[in-house]
Amino acid sequence: MSVQWLPILPSELLQNAEVLKVLINGKEVVVWRSVSGHVQIWENRCPHRSVRLSLGHVDGENLVCAYHGWEFAAQDGSCQKIPAQPEQRAPKSVCSKAYPVSENNGMIWFGGFDLELRPEPLAQQILSLKIIPVHYAGSVLIHCTMDEVTEFLQHLHFRQTSPCGFLGDDDFADVQLFLTPTDAEKTTLHALQPQAETVQRSLDSLFQIRQQIEEHQYAVL
Ligand code: FES
Repeated sequence: MSVQWLPILPSELLQNAEVLKVLINGKEVVVWRSVSGHVQIWENRCPHRSVRLSLGHVDGENLVCAYHGWEFAAQDGSCQKIPAQPEQRAPKSVCSKAYPVSENNGMIWFGGFDLELRPEPLAQQILSLKIIPVHYAGSVLIHCTMDEVTEFLQHLHFRQTSPCGFLGDDDFADVQLFLTPTDAEKTTLHALQPQAETVQRSLDSLFQIRQQIEEHQYAVL
């Protein structure tokens, strides 16, 4: 069974040395970028005492837990440092759970919760649009499922470029939309577009699309 890559966060929202919490299909993950710019998506739970890693901070290429300061390496999630026992090496089993991650076309992509199922390379699942540079316009939370949002975007004649990606036409020319399944009832819609000057227009389009989708859903209830 092939695993589908999900776009979860615009790259511009995660600066170097920044840590964020993101909800994917109702499960929390911590998304962080090391000082050198590498992005990680990990289970949002410290392997020591289960504190949320999203409360921590970045130190170089490590994520530091906010509670006892244990440090976990971007490279493989292994524990590199225990401040209370500086002479002691952490057992290999003390390791953060790292999920497959990729960065492409201005978005950070998540490769699934099941570590037994490795996803196909991202390039095989998405139609690369080669629009460079891309500018982040905004994100909105929509109180509809991903299927409902997808159906409505098709109705608005957005061209589907991946299972969760769309390219606009006519009123929404060159606007790229990406969908994140936030939980069973909500979807986050992110907008990117090629010209920095028209970011505000794309943001307005995004609010307009959300209003239309939610009004449509209430109308058919
Ligand atoms: S709970 Fe994270 S270091 Fe102790």
